[in-house]
Amino acid sequence: MPPLILGIESSCDDTASAVLRGRKILSNVVSSQTDLHAAFGGVVPEIAARAHVEKLDLCVEQALSQAKVALAEIDAIAVTAGPGLIGGVMAGVMVAKGLAMGTGIPLIGVNHLAGHALTPRLTDGATYPYLMLLVSGGHCQFLRVDGPDAFTRLGGTIDDAPGEAFDKVAKLLGLLQPGGPAVERAAAAGDPAAFAFPRPLLDREGCDLSFSGLKTAVLRARDTSLVDGALPRSLRNDICAGFQRAVAETLAEKSRRALALCPDATAFAVAGGVAANGAIRSALEGICDRPFLAPPLPLCTDNAAMIAWAGSELFEAGAHDGMNLAPRPRWPL
Ligand code: KG4
Ligand code: ZN
Repeated sequence: MPPLILGIESSCDDTASAVLRGRKILSNVVSSQTDLHAAFGGVVPEIAARAHVEKLDLCVEQALSQAKVALAEIDAIAVTAGPGLIGGVMAGVMVAKGLAMGTGIPLIGVNHLAGHALTPRLTDGATYPYLMLLVSGGHCQFLRVDGPDAFTRLGGTIDDAPGEAFDKVAKLLGLLQPGGPAVERAAAAGDPAAFAFPRPLLDREGCDLSFSGLKTAVLRARDTSLVDGALPRSLRNDICAGFQRAVAETLAEKSRRALALCPDATAFAVAGGVAANGAIRSALEGICDRPFLAPPLPLCTDNAAMIAWAGSELFEAGAHDGMNLAPRPRWPL
């Protein structure tokens, strides 16, 4: 029988815990802090860390009780050990160490990005090697995945992550945070051809991406569209539609190039919050010449099931961390 794994995640603004046996998700509890940070227009690290400290114990308890398992039955505890906001990562690692020390259950530190990157194996049984595009508020990279600890970065953003660009564009246009869903809703009512936005770095070889110029172009479009100091709703929607199409087409072209670099990849998978965007998903699916895997939304965004799954693969490969497991703010794959 596959091992029973408890997962803990607290690297950004979601406090999460999950219990998995193999690919079966027995529980997946996520407590989001979106409301706590909404007024600040972004995640405030100090507030995030305090909220994790307050919520982690309860989250773990709920994950165990929903899974109907006792802590003593758990075979390994997998915890995000980085990269992320250090206060939150520390809070999670402390809780995991406490549980492991009190029970003698093995502890496994998981890279948050590996959690996202291995999710297609949990959700779709993807087989190695495959190509992964990770697109979130903090990350944007193409990864060739050959094993639970074998990743090759083929390219990525040289400035902002696309989710960050969506959030900043929403702020520029007076839309609510998180910006991605708000921009997508506005874009649905807009004309994507009304504004000519750039397709950054398409003239440069390779899979690197850039989104900060696009954000500046949105700022310029907004400023030239003001009528009596206000942005008419229809023009705002057009800007959103044009921006979204520029992001989608840029990601699609770079994905085509990344796929060409991995002829043996069995599938092309996406993960991260931006993969929730319908226009982006269909643009990526449109250029994909092999199975396209997009995990269901709750497993695309931050969650602990992905951490438990990555921990499960590492555990079965013999990995095991001791009490000296250190939280890491930076941890490239
Ligand atoms: O993966 P995630 O939940 O958290 C991390 O960044 O790790 O991603 C959140 C990001 C935010 O920037 C949010 O604006 C973006 O994903 N996002 C979207 C959509 N839904 C969420 N971006 C574009 N379209 C969406 N529908
Ligand atoms: Zn994430």
